[in-house]
Amino acid sequence: MIRTGKIAEVKKYVREWKRQGLTIGLVPTMGYLHEGHASLIRRAREDNDRVIVSDFVNPIQFGPKEDLAVYPRDFEADCKLCDSLGADLIFHPEPDEMYAPDACTHVKVDNLTDNLCGVTRPFHFQGVCTVVSKLFHISEADRAYFGQKDAQQLAVIRRMVRDLNFPIEIIGCPIIREEDGLAKSSRNTYLNAEERKAATILYKALKKGHEMIDAGETDAAKVKDTIRSIIGTEPRATIDYVEIVDRDELQPIETIDRPVLAAVAVYIGKDRLIDNFITGSLNEKE
Ligand code: PAJ
Repeated sequence: MIRTGKIAEVKKYVREWKRQGLTIGLVPTMGYLHEGHASLIRRAREDNDRVIVSDFVNPIQFGPKEDLAVYPRDFEADCKLCDSLGADLIFHPEPDEMYAPDACTHVKVDNLTDNLCGVTRPFHFQGVCTVVSKLFHISEADRAYFGQKDAQQLAVIRRMVRDLNFPIEIIGCPIIREEDGLAKSSRNTYLNAEERKAATILYKALKKGHEMIDAGETDAAKVKDTIRSIIGTEPRATIDYVEIVDRDELQPIETIDRPVLAAVAVYIGKDRLIDNFITGSLNEKE
């Protein structure tokens, strides 16, 4: 597996692979890889001739009071995992390789970023879209893989790709969970033993909400109230939001009469966790 932190070097390999007519799959990550990331890499490996994993803690998607400085990192372990999964190249740039000191161009998606995590993280998706656009150009990938774990991110990137005519297919991948239901996340390492136990309340609450919709409940307020009251039974949990929105537009809805995204953000102690479910299919073609 090729390891590089240089854009020019990635482009050199990409040029050669394109010349040979090979397809390229890209898996953008911030590293500290776990089974969730691995599932994306496996899917990319199945679909493409070459697989690029980017491993970059993107500073411009963190707010000033967020966890950039303490975000967990373990590049050697990431390389081992990527190698074992058959990735061809891991791209691990320093921030100054990605951003010139006078960089002043950003990619901003409106509307879909107004709700959910956009409320408390106003510049987050602009940072994500900017880095993902750069990674799409650098890798010239045919397909890119994103987890449903970050449902709003996936919807925003799909919209950006459509609106700006990026020549790339976006593949959504299902949420990978721990045995007790907690969605895998690099940030789960922040939780102590009691918080880790308390964190299972997100999945428990969402599962009940999903069951209600499956049983025919169409009143979004009733489903949200149930989810809220279940999370409320956990003393360590403080709700940031519980929302049911249109799955593609991410606008709140009152009646569940189309595919929806039910999403929650909950503080467990001082750490903020997100989780969700959708109704309908994850990818158009599937
Ligand atoms: P990161 O949080 O490292 O996640 C990288 C990818 O892995 C995302 O598409 C995310 O949705 C997916 N992922 C994380 N946990 C998952 C799980 N439990 N099941 C399935 N997929 C999971 O998301 C980012 O990095 C960044 O915002 C990035 C897109 C790389 C831009 O910097």
